[in-house]
Amino acid sequence: MLRFLTAGESHGKCLTAILEGLPSGIILSEEDIDRELQRRQQGYGRGGRMQIEKDCVEITSGLRHGRTIGSPLCLIIHNRDFENWKEIMSTRATDTTDAAAVSKPRPGHADLPGGIKYRHTDLRNILERASARETAMKVAVGAVAKKLLAGFDIQLNSYVAAIGDASMESHPDLTEAALNRIEASPVRCPDEAAEKRMMAVIDAAKAAGDSLGGIFRIIIRKVPVGIGTHVHWDRRLDANLSRALMGIQAIKGVEFGMGFHAARELGSRVHDEIFYRNGFYHGTNNAGGIEGGISNGEDIVISCAMKPIPTLYSPLRSVDLSTKAPYAAGIERSDICAVPAAAVVGEAMAAWETANALMEKFGGDNINETLCNYRHYLAYVQEV
Ligand SMILES: Cc1cc2nc3c(=O)[nH]c(=O)nc-3n(C[C@H](O)[C@H](O)[C@H](O)COP(=O)(O)O)c2cc1C
Repeated sequence: MLRFLTAGESHGKCLTAILEGLPSGIILSEEDIDRELQRRQQGYGRGGRMQIEKDCVEITSGLRHGRTIGSPLCLIIHNRDFENWKEIMSTRATDTTDAAAVSKPRPGHADLPGGIKYRHTDLRNILERASARETAMKVAVGAVAKKLLAGFDIQLNSYVAAIGDASMESHPDLTEAALNRIEASPVRCPDEAAEKRMMAVIDAAKAAGDSLGGIFRIIIRKVPVGIGTHVHWDRRLDANLSRALMGIQAIKGVEFGMGFHAARELGSRVHDEIFYRNGFYHGTNNAGGIEGGISNGEDIVISCAMKPIPTLYSPLRSVDLSTKAPYAAGIERSDICAVPAAAVVGEAMAAWETANALMEKFGGDNINETLCNYRHYLAYVQEV
């Protein structure tokens, strides 16, 4: 079983992650991870922090001479502007009044419930950790999972299907050209006309001091039939993918295939009929590649809904935690829309969960052992 934990505050010294359960022998470099970190930092509608971030990772254990060695992998991403936050984020006890203390909870954030729960009067103790800055480390962790998936020839991609009410009409084939277009698009959208509409709604929201959310889609191709299981709720592939994706800040819904729409349709229009020609296949893929918690050999198709960014340049009303006086929530800097970046984070989390499910099925302490088990299984599937 694969596990990871992250630590770190938004303006703290660094983000850290420890990844456990990776087989030895996976080829990995800091550059592999940095490439993914750069992808998260793109996107039309991002705020000021992207200019100072330019994230890069340091691997401090679990890797030797370019290959994992089976011990825990430790990743560190240093915060470039920590110098400016050294005093505010100091780990030492201080008796001076903190000028950066926050007593005003922002609507849509963890500030108020977190402050009450942890008995903090300074809400910075909540917002620093609740911040989506942590998604940088999620992307780094996902980059490692992608290196594991590469051995299985599994392809994992994402694109933005909607920002606010600007959406794509149809879903594209992920050809090489479409994938290149997605990577080059400021909103990670394969459709040029939809891209223009998305950028226009972001411009309009910005001008109005407002923010936007949207929908991104993740497609995982070449996952063999039989990953995940129906036997327990916490080993279902769809359940685990959902949990990983819902664990991303601001993600409020996850759908597989036809998703919520299936609830309004007749069964005859929903369920994918089964055919056989040199192997089993389905006539459609409304299930999104998973039946009974098990991959069925079709593409795994997941849509994720992201709520609008909660920090608005046109402030929302709130109440001061200590004085109980009403106020309008002011901001330092914030994204207007971060759906393209969230799609990259979604890819990372989906990669991690897919890798976890593969390791559960194929096991192995060295990647060659894992891949050997995998090839035997593929040979069996071909004969069914
Ligand atoms: C990639 C990414 C970037 C984000 N950037 C911001 C931001 O700049 N400002 C903000 O208020 N919220 C931002 N968020 C969303 C908040 O972190 C999130 O809404 C908040 O922590 C409350 O958590 P919840 O929405 O999961 O309930 C971002 C989320 C993601 C995934």
